[in-house]
Amino acid sequence: MENAPMLFIPGPTYVPEEIARAQARPMIGHRSREFTALFERIVPRLQAIFRTRGRVFFVAASGTGLWEAAVRNLVRRKVLCLINGAFGERWYQVALANGKEAVPVSIEWGKGVRPEQVLEALGGHPDVEAITIVHNETSTGVMNPLQEIAAAVRRAFPEVLILVDAVSSLGGAPLETDAWGLDFVLTSSQKCLALPPGLAFCAVSGRAMEKAKEVPHRGYYFDLLTMARYADRGETPATPAISLLYAADLQFARILEEGLEARWERHRRMAERVQAWAMERFGLFAEEGYRSWTLTCVANPKGIDVGALNEFLRARGKVISSGYGPLKGKTFRIAHMGEIQPHHIEELLADIEEWLAVHE
Ligand SMILES: Cc1ncc(COP(=O)(O)O)c(C=O)c1O
Repeated sequence: MENAPMLFIPGPTYVPEEIARAQARPMIGHRSREFTALFERIVPRLQAIFRTRGRVFFVAASGTGLWEAAVRNLVRRKVLCLINGAFGERWYQVALANGKEAVPVSIEWGKGVRPEQVLEALGGHPDVEAITIVHNETSTGVMNPLQEIAAAVRRAFPEVLILVDAVSSLGGAPLETDAWGLDFVLTSSQKCLALPPGLAFCAVSGRAMEKAKEVPHRGYYFDLLTMARYADRGETPATPAISLLYAADLQFARILEEGLEARWERHRRMAERVQAWAMERFGLFAEEGYRSWTLTCVANPKGIDVGALNEFLRARGKVISSGYGPLKGKTFRIAHMGEIQPHHIEELLADIEEWLAVHE
């Protein structure tokens, strides 16, 4: 591709050429032996990445499709939505758009969700069937303490299902679907998994699959029970995105070859480096103790011109991200996810320093 910049934006992320090229393999039928072989390679790798022995599914959609799948399949009437950023807010809107009685729990942007806040909210709504939570808020750079929240909910409200958006964390930060007792975990292909956009993946607990049986109007395209029926014979209900699955097959093998723990650790180290730099030069939007491993939301109290900085970076073959929505101008974001390596981060920070030396 002609002069595509290196992406330090929180998705789509940089896709290695070998993975992009895998999409060019010859087409196969989706009701064929070849497809079932591909399906049966992908499923155990996805289970390893989600850390589950339960059901995993992939769909030809972006993560938003699985937000819809989660609330349509697993909520009959009432769901409690934790909101500490733009994506938590959007999942809440998706629940409302699907006719659910959704209770918003709003927490200041930049702050992490505390388990006590979740318990208190659930205490006020004993008829809630599920909670939605965004593990890593891409709009603010906050990573919520998912393990602690899930443990508290499982202890105090064992019937409540835990629905998790891990769009910008799965593959880049620790997440244990089974060990943490999560019921539905979804992600998109274009973030920490470093695939092109167009696929979304989820893990579903056994009790969530049982719950789906009691929920009417699960919709058609994202009906988990239909997906499970087809999965049992190594197929998908509708025509899958076969080219993207070729890329996923190879990339998942590469991720597991790096080792999931090693991959998390690489992300943690890059976050530590970028956040130490940002603290010294600017400040951080996310509160201490709740900062993301996969992206850094840098505060911009000096009001530097992020557009001009990005033009400079673009000439160096790199691009970063402006602040999200209401945070535009007040923050800018550096993603260190997917296949970004520590040396890329060093090169980026050196370029930013060069620009700051003249423009600060
Ligand atoms: C945390 C989070 N959730 C959901 C989404 C929406 O995902 P998609 O664009 O794949 O539909 C995004 C996109 O950036 C995100 O960052």
